[in-house]
Amino acid sequence: MAKPKIAIIISSTRQTRFGDKPAQWIFDIASKRSDMDVELIDLRDYPMPFFDEVASNAWAPTQNEVAKRWQKKIAEFDGYIFITAEYNRGVTGVLKNALDYAYVEWNKKVAAYVGYGSVGGARAVESLRLISVELQMHPTRTGVHIQGADFMAVWQQGKKLTELEHLQPNVAAMLDELVWWTNAVNTARKADNAKPS
Ligand SMILES: Cc1cc2nc3c(=O)[nH]c(=O)nc-3n(C[C@H](O)[C@H](O)[C@H](O)COP(=O)(O)O)c2cc1C
Repeated sequence: MAKPKIAIIISSTRQTRFGDKPAQWIFDIASKRSDMDVELIDLRDYPMPFFDEVASNAWAPTQNEVAKRWQKKIAEFDGYIFITAEYNRGVTGVLKNALDYAYVEWNKKVAAYVGYGSVGGARAVESLRLISVELQMHPTRTGVHIQGADFMAVWQQGKKLTELEHLQPNVAAMLDELVWWTNAVNTARKADNAKPS
């Protein structure tokens, strides 16, 4: 079985963002594993306007060129790890916009979540789980939450995420679930594709 291709998507784009730190941390851990291939995806490379199409691409082809490039990129992957900031108890606007700018590319894929903030991005992650379901993605049970004193220590006191050893079991569990579900979903997708139309 081919190794699943996993995108690690950074949810914020502001110049002083924290998002690079957890994205790089998860990338370093995941890229050492032999059961998945990972790539970092930066929404800064896909500066899309606020959604301005006649419909979702479930119903009508997208016109915007950057959005078409975004959809093509997303289509390459079997699963996604969303590195999730929490803005006013929800997902960042830029991530929601990027999610809305694709549909078929997300379908029958797997999603995992790394949240950060005062409550570990928990409210943004929970919202993102529901959004994922609507986009026909399968969410992993386990997420990783960098919260409270841990978040403050890394954000403002120079602590490294690699020093937060108590988060390691959750990272491993989340990546294990991501691989298991991605392999299962890939098998099912292949069987679907092999059916006569
Ligand atoms: C517009 C805005 C709203 C925020 N709202 C929340 C929030 O609801 N909950 C929370 O824990 N942190 C909140 N924060 C603080 C963020 O957790 C913190 O700034 C974090 O670094 C944001 O991610 P980023 O640096 O990758 O953009 C907010 C920050 C911004 C800029």
